[in-house]
Amino acid sequence: PDAPPPVLRLRQGQPARITVENRLDEVTTVHWHGLRVPNAQDGVPYLTQFPIGAGESYTYEFTPQDAGTYWYHPHCNTLEQISRGMAGMLIVEEAEAPDFDADLALQLRDFRLGGDGQFLEFWKARAAAREGTLGTVATANWQVAPRLAAPAGGLLRLRLAVTDVTRLFRLRLRGPGADQARIVALDGHPLAQPEALEAALHLGPGQRADLVIAMPAEAGARLTLIRETAAGAEDAVLAELVAEGPDLGRRIGSLVPLPPNPVAGPELARAEKLDFVLGWTPEGAPSNGSVCGDIPYRFWSINRRVWPGDLPPDPADPLAPLAELKRGRSYVFRLVNESPNRHPIHLHGMTFRLLNSNKRALRGNLTDTALVEANETVDIAFVADNPGDWVFHCHVIEHQKTGLAGFVRVLG
Ligand code: C2O
Ligand code: CU
Ligand code: CU
Repeated sequence: PDAPPPVLRLRQGQPARITVENRLDEVTTVHWHGLRVPNAQDGVPYLTQFPIGAGESYTYEFTPQDAGTYWYHPHCNTLEQISRGMAGMLIVEEAEAPDFDADLALQLRDFRLGGDGQFLEFWKARAAAREGTLGTVATANWQVAPRLAAPAGGLLRLRLAVTDVTRLFRLRLRGPGADQARIVALDGHPLAQPEALEAALHLGPGQRADLVIAMPAEAGARLTLIRETAAGAEDAVLAELVAEGPDLGRRIGSLVPLPPNPVAGPELARAEKLDFVLGWTPEGAPSNGSVCGDIPYRFWSINRRVWPGDLPPDPADPLAPLAELKRGRSYVFRLVNESPNRHPIHLHGMTFRLLNSNKRALRGNLTDTALVEANETVDIAFVADNPGDWVFHCHVIEHQKTGLAGFVRVLG
């Protein structure tokens, strides 16, 4: 079958041209999640382009600056289009290829299917106002627990992308040598030092991880990728990795960090600080739809404003940016989560560094999506070096579509 959507492989520093042919009977756009592209190529309806009409096509052009694991998805009727499968992985190969024996990509998501294999309704208002509506069938590359081969005794680069619209993944590896696995990159960007995969790796919707696994030396030996579930329930097996062929004899000790991406470092001492309060709406009211939207309710807000701002306090200018940033300046955004739910907060167009949290130690990695825990405050920092209007939203799509969204403007 033509599924899942193809893994696009681009190369760092090489211009890409991607034509999207819309064969749906509704409008769409495609967004390149995590890539720092020119604003006009960002794929956000009305903000950066007109939606692509049914039967029309649109060509995106950009040159990826950063290597790593990214993904693409529509930004129109997003909940339904992603829920039905419109999401694919996008890999930007390093300008100089690192030394791995295999490179596999796994798109992790659930489908919301009933016992008859048909789609269930994609959202429930009650859940949208809380943690979001969960899928029912766990898949990797649209298959249930697929078995993938990798060279025995070889170093496997395993790229994971959580494209689920709602669910937080707590991932673990099990099997021979699982404790030797390393995290080499998160959300596209290499870690300065590879890190052992000890505690479960938490990835929220939209997030990615690159693991390096030393495959067992013996052909037929296998590792499993597990998603932990709530206490009491059986963990889900997402995929099996089976060693095959003669032992390549590689050791995890030979692993070197991936080359860093060219992301500008913010000047923290001179950075301007802005607060963003992630919360409920005052009303929690039904509404008459959003821009290119799909859920007729308003439950969430940023700084008490609801995208697209059809509620007070700013009815005069509902489409105003949440903040105007000066090009080239450094910013610290303080993300204040006033809610008892977790939010993966995503910024388009620019890569930020996680600075600190009032609750836990952060890795301090570069990312495009900050997973903010319930009632947590997280500071992030970046240089506003990409001019344009950039969406800033929760990647639990039901939260995004019921108000937890807005945009920041980087003045040219
Ligand atoms: Cu994954 Cu607004 O995007
Ligand atoms: Cu994005
Ligand atoms: Cu959220």
